[in-house]
Amino acid sequence: MLDHMREHSDIFICPACKGSLEIAVDSIICLKCHNSYEVEDGIPLLFWPHEGDDSREHITKTVKAFYEKTPFPNYEENENIGNLVQKAQESFFPRLLNEQIPFNIRMLEVGCGTGQLSNFLGAAHRNVFGADLCLNSLKLGQKFKEKNDLKRVGFYQMNLFRPIFKEESFPLVICNGVLMTTTDPYGGFKSISKLVKDGGYIVIGLYNTYGRLITDIRRIIFRISGDHFKFLDPRLRGHDRGEAKKEAWFADQYKHPRELKHTMGELLKWFDETGFEFVYGVPNPKAFSTFKLNDTIFKKHPRGNWLDHFITQLHMVLTGSKEGGFFTMVGKKRK
Ligand SMILES: C[S@@+](CC[C@H](N)C(=O)[O-])C[C@H]1O[C@@H](n2cnc3c(N)ncnc32)[C@H](O)[C@@H]1O
Repeated sequence: MLDHMREHSDIFICPACKGSLEIAVDSIICLKCHNSYEVEDGIPLLFWPHEGDDSREHITKTVKAFYEKTPFPNYEENENIGNLVQKAQESFFPRLLNEQIPFNIRMLEVGCGTGQLSNFLGAAHRNVFGADLCLNSLKLGQKFKEKNDLKRVGFYQMNLFRPIFKEESFPLVICNGVLMTTTDPYGGFKSISKLVKDGGYIVIGLYNTYGRLITDIRRIIFRISGDHFKFLDPRLRGHDRGEAKKEAWFADQYKHPRELKHTMGELLKWFDETGFEFVYGVPNPKAFSTFKLNDTIFKKHPRGNWLDHFITQLHMVLTGSKEGGFFTMVGKKRK
């Protein structure tokens, strides 16, 4: 137990006071504030609430309770590493990540949910840290990791506003579909951006204000009709997903207690204000430049201007809803 944490003990800090941690047999103790953290099913319980703001506390608790009930995205019954790799390789962005992230690096996935991406990327010789506030999601990721003997992956319960890692610990931090469910997306971005090394990369996925419009309309229809007409969502009418995954998708997309949306311009402003430069985006923020199967995601691409963003996002209204109106950008931290 805790082998993964012990192997990388140099980067951990106490989420409450940032002190050094001592890793005991089945618990973790802060040498500065003497807080003691338990371990459950091999997962260090290092979640620490934000302090001093009741409304923030309330939203984080509500979101945590929501995911504890419906862990996302969940696994298919009897899914194994072969199925996971095959599915990920069929998806454009996970495939590019797998092809282009070097082996043997340390990387962090914040808000890893049930840990599909962490387990997929960790299967290929990378030291992956999957962190999330939801223990039930982490337990599913951990179970899959253990069953498939993925020793280089470690799952940790963590609040992204109270990181358990020293600043600049990772050359790569991925945070996909997470910040827009938090109390303060930009505050969350600033918090995790500090974990990236100089010259390292951050990958951020958010709901797009325009791309999400069709999903918003569907949500209204479901609400009025008492959750009838689920076939309106392409993921719910397809036969390629089991019931548990469909349920998790429906809850996450249409019943979430907290959902904010952002534009491409907003995320680029976050990058500018925190010392990151844009390198790559899906969809491509430069209008009329579609992605290619051999795109290099860690090399600089044009970021487009406001007109490019307007055209691309308008296009997302029509095309973006299948993937939940999602957009992703990769930023590089300036040295
Ligand atoms: C929509 S799910 C995305 C899961 C995964 N990244 C994916 O793309 O499938 C959002 C995840 O963010 C996590 N999350 C929300 N707020 C968080 C916080 N403050 N700290 C850590 N994780 C958080 C939730 O528990 C949930 O697992």
